[in-house]
Amino acid sequence: MRLQASSSVAFDESPAVSGSKSGELLRVESLRKVFASGTQEIAPLDGVDICVERGEMIAIVGPSGAGKSTFLHLLAALDTPTSGEVYFAGNSLRSLAEAELAEYRNRAVGLVWQRHHLLPDFTASENVAMPLLIQGTPVGCALREASERLAEVGLADVVEHPAGRLSGGEQQRVAIARALVNVPSLLLADEPTGDLDERNAEAIFELMQRLHRSHQLTSIFATHNLSLARRADRVLNLEHGKLAPAGEARVTRV
Ligand SMILES: Nc1ncnc2c1ncn2[C@@H]1O[C@H](COP(=O)(O)OP(=O)(O)OP(=O)(O)O)[C@@H](O)[C@H]1O
Ligand SMILES: [Mg+2]
Repeated sequence: MRLQASSSVAFDESPAVSGSKSGELLRVESLRKVFASGTQEIAPLDGVDICVERGEMIAIVGPSGAGKSTFLHLLAALDTPTSGEVYFAGNSLRSLAEAELAEYRNRAVGLVWQRHHLLPDFTASENVAMPLLIQGTPVGCALREASERLAEVGLADVVEHPAGRLSGGEQQRVAIARALVNVPSLLLADEPTGDLDERNAEAIFELMQRLHRSHQLTSIFATHNLSLARRADRVLNLEHGKLAPAGEARVTRV
C-alpha cells in the first residue's frame, strides 16, 4: 500500500508493491454490529471471526438481510462496529485516527458495488481518475493512469465516452477499473454481478479473477450467485449473525 509519508501507521504494503505474498492481511475478532429498528435492536453481525490470508479470494453468501453489506462496510471502515475488532496488516482500524482511516479507505481498499455509482456525464476515464484527482494527482497523470486501467478491463475504446452511455456490463468494468486505480491490496465487492445478465455476470467474474491474480489482490465479495461463489478459494455463509464455512463449498477453515 502506498501510504503518504504523513501517515504514522505502518500499514503493510500491497504485495504488488512490496513483493510480500503470504501471511495474514485481515483479521476480524468478535465483530458485532447492532442497529436500532424502531423500539427493537437487530444484530446482523453477532460475533464474526475470520482470518484472511494475503491472496485469498473469499465469497460471502447468505440470505438477504443477513448482514453481508454491513460486514463489507465495516471491513472498508465505512461504518464502525458496535464491538469487536478489524485488523488490517496488524493494525486495529479502531485505533486509527480519522486521517489514517481516510488513508485506509482511499488507498488500501478498492470497492465495487452492485450499482456502480459512476458519474454519468463524466467520461469513463474521468470516472476512473476521480479517486486520484481527489487526492491531488495532476490531471494528465490521473487520466493516463485511468486509461491504462480501462485498457486492462477491456475498455480502451470507450475511454472518452460518457459513463452514462455505456452498457451495464461496461459500466461495471469502469467501476472495477476505478476500484483498482489506487493500487489497493484489498478488493471488496458487494454483489458485483447482481445487476447483470448471466453472460455479463460471468464475464465480470472472470475479469475479477484475472485482476485478483495479476494485481496480487486479496478479494472478498458478497453474492447471491452460488455457482460464482463456489469458484472462490473459500465460501463463507453469513447467517444469524455468524460467519461459517458454507456447506457444499471447497472450504477448509474460517
Ligand atoms: N443503517 C442501518 N440502520 C438500520 N438497520 C440497518 C442499517 N443497515 C442495515 N440494516 C439492517 O441490517 C440487516 C442487514 O442488512 P444488510 O444490508 O447488511 O444485508 P445483506 O445481507 O447485505 O442483504 P442483501 O443480500 O439483500 O443485500 C438488515 O435487516 C437491514 O435492514
Ligand atoms: Mg447487501
